[in-house]
Amino acid sequence: MTATAAPQTAAAEPALRIDDLRVEARLADDTLLLVDGLDLDLRPGEIVGVVGESGSGKTTLVRTLIGLLDKNVTVTAGAVAVGGEQVLAPGVDRTEAVRGARIGTVFQDASRSLNPVLKVRSQLREVLKAHKPQLSKAEAAEKMRTVLRRMQIDDPERVLGSYPHQLSGGQRQRVAIALAVVSEPQIVLADECTTALDVTTQAEVVALFRDLVAELGVALVFVTHDLLLAADLCDRIVVMYGGQAAEVGPTRRVLLAPRHPYSAGLLAAVPSWSADGPIRGIDGSAPRVTTAFSGCRFAGRCPRADDDCRSAPIPWSGAAGTRDGYRCIHPLAAAPAPAPAQAASGSAADR
Ligand SMILES: Nc1ncnc2c1ncn2[C@@H]1O[C@H](COP(=O)(O)OP(=O)(O)OP(=O)(O)O)[C@@H](O)[C@H]1O
Ligand code: SF4
Ligand SMILES: [Mg+2]
Repeated sequence: MTATAAPQTAAAEPALRIDDLRVEARLADDTLLLVDGLDLDLRPGEIVGVVGESGSGKTTLVRTLIGLLDKNVTVTAGAVAVGGEQVLAPGVDRTEAVRGARIGTVFQDASRSLNPVLKVRSQLREVLKAHKPQLSKAEAAEKMRTVLRRMQIDDPERVLGSYPHQLSGGQRQRVAIALAVVSEPQIVLADECTTALDVTTQAEVVALFRDLVAELGVALVFVTHDLLLAADLCDRIVVMYGGQAAEVGPTRRVLLAPRHPYSAGLLAAVPSWSADGPIRGIDGSAPRVTTAFSGCRFAGRCPRADDDCRSAPIPWSGAAGTRDGYRCIHPLAAAPAPAPAQAASGSAADR
C-alpha cells in the first residue's frame, strides 16, 4: 500500500501512522504472514473501525502496536510512529515507552485488563503512579473519581473500593476503559471490547467512546466483528482479510459502495444490510498465508476470481493523496459521482 501514501506535514501529524507493516510468525516448518503491507493514518479525534472475520489479524495488529507479541512473532518490515516518533520497525521496539502512557488498550475480556486481587482504587493508582507520577495523592484521587464519572459510574467511591468480582460485567468493562484512559493517552485501541456485553450495555459503552473522542480528541481504533456497530461509530473502516487491508475508506463509502468483493460479502452476511436481497455468508474459509503465498488471498472464495487473481500479488489501488483504496484487480463498480449540488454540500459518501 505504500505507493499511495500521502506525504505528511508536521501540522497534519497523525496520532498513529502505520507504514507497510509486516508481522510474521515463525513456526517449526514455516513462516506465517500475520499482517502484511498494512498502511494506516489515525488522526486525533478520529475513529477507525477494523473489521474482518476471525483470524484476519485484527488482534495481532493491536498487540503489535503495544509490543505484546508472542515470542515467535516479529515485525519484519515497515514502521509504526506515534505522534511522529517511530516506535516500531524491524529491530526497533520502543512500544514500552508509549504503552499505557500514549496508547491505552481495552480488550474484549475485562478480566484481561483487571487484576482480580486488587481493588479498583489500587489498580487506577498504579496506572497513575506509572504514567502521571507528578500528581499529588489528592490530585490522583480526584482524577480517579473523575475518570469513573466520565465512564458514567455514578457511585465512584463504591466502585473504587470494590474488587472486580464485586462489579457487574458492564461495570468491569467501564473500569477497564477507565484504566486505559486515566493516563490521558492520545490513542485508544479497543479490541472487541463490547462483544461480550448485552445490547444495552454495548450501546452505553459505545456512547462512552464517542464522548471520549469528542471531548478529549482521543484517536480510537475500534476492532469489531459487528459491521452495524462500526457503521454507527466509526469515521473510517479498514476491512482486513488474511492479514492485509482488503479495503480502506470513509465508513459510508465502504459500507454503501464497497469495491472489494470481500467487503461486499461481509455486508451481505449482515441481516439488516441485506433487507433487499438474500442473506449470505461467505462460503469457505480464509487461507493459511505463508511467506510463499502468491496471488489474492480471497481468490479461493471470490465469485470474481480468475487466473490473473491467482498468479501474482494483488497491488493496492488507492485514491491519490490518501491511503484509501482496495486490493482487487476486478473491483465492484464505484458509486456514481455525486451531483454538483450534493458535492458542494458534502455527499453521503464523503464521510
Ligand atoms: N503466535 C502465533 N503463532 C502463529 N500464528 C499465530 C500466532 N498468533 C496469532 N496467530 C494466527 O494469526 C492469525 C490472526 O490471529 P488474530 O488473533 O490476530 O485474528 P483476529 O482477526 O483477531 O481474530 P478474532 O476475530 O477471532 O479475534 C490467526 O490465524 C492466528 O491463528
Ligand atoms: S483480486 Fe480477484 S480474487 Fe481477489 S478479490 Fe479481486 S476479483 Fe476477487
Ligand atoms: Mg481478535
